[in-house]
Amino acid sequence: MAGSATLDRQTTYSTGARHFHWWTVALLLIQVPVGLYMVYRGNVTNFDALTNTLYSAHKTLGLVILALVVARLIYRFAHGAPADEPTLSRWHKAASHATHWSLYLLLILVPVVGWLGISLYGAREVFGIVSIPPLAGPNQAAAEGVLLLHRYLAYLTVALIGMHIGAALFHYFIRRDGVLARMLPQAGRRDLA
Ligand code: HEM
Ligand code: HEM
Repeated sequence: MAGSATLDRQTTYSTGARHFHWWTVALLLIQVPVGLYMVYRGNVTNFDALTNTLYSAHKTLGLVILALVVARLIYRFAHGAPADEPTLSRWHKAASHATHWSLYLLLILVPVVGWLGISLYGAREVFGIVSIPPLAGPNQAAAEGVLLLHRYLAYLTVALIGMHIGAALFHYFIRRDGVLARMLPQAGRRDLA
């Protein structure tokens, strides 16, 4: 696979890969609750001023996450990843690769579908000052379906992240192997030791 040999001798993710990983986590920790709350608040207040601000924040942060994930994928293809933890079975390796690549795919799809949805809906303005460039012309009927798809893909992403975190904790507390340590912020010290 492209660039995958680069880090084969290393046992932990590079500083760059770890920064990308934990920045993505931090931004999603804001983005998902804001998405859920703004939709709830829109329903109960019929879109008050704060709801509109939350929608603007969600759209803006969503595009920032999209840019971050694109940069992360370019970095990933250029630098590769460390070889799999040596104690993992073939089944474990396949499951972890499948989860990781599905997460990357969803982290591209979710914001692009959201962007397409607001383009079709004609709701591209953020904070009343800037207009996000359109991905398509207005089409109200299509907008509803596309935004529903955005919602279900976001739920799927959250479910997959739940499994991913469960797996990381399983490795740390039950299997007691080195998988979690490869991605922790202080992981680089292991390679320097
Ligand atoms: C990784 C990035 C993103 C994540 C994880 C995410 C997640 C979510 C979530 C969880 C909801 C609430 C769904 C619900 O319960 O109804 C939501 C709604 C929404 N998102 Fe996103 N979103 C992201 C990016 C974007 C982007 C880039 C845009 C537009 C530029 C966008 C536009 C919207 C809109 C308009 C809604 C409301 C949909 C509705 O009212 O049916 N999102 N998003
Ligand atoms: C928003 C949540 C998260 C997302 C989207 C996410 C995504 C990813 C992705 C895409 C990879 C693959 C890296 C690569 O090989 O290119 C990865 C690896 C990893 N993640 Fe996460 N992650 C999240 C949260 C977490 C959390 C909370 C933990 C710890 C409890 C964690 C622990 C790990 C570990 C240990 C690896 C390396 C696995 C290995 O050695 O192969 N992740 N993550």
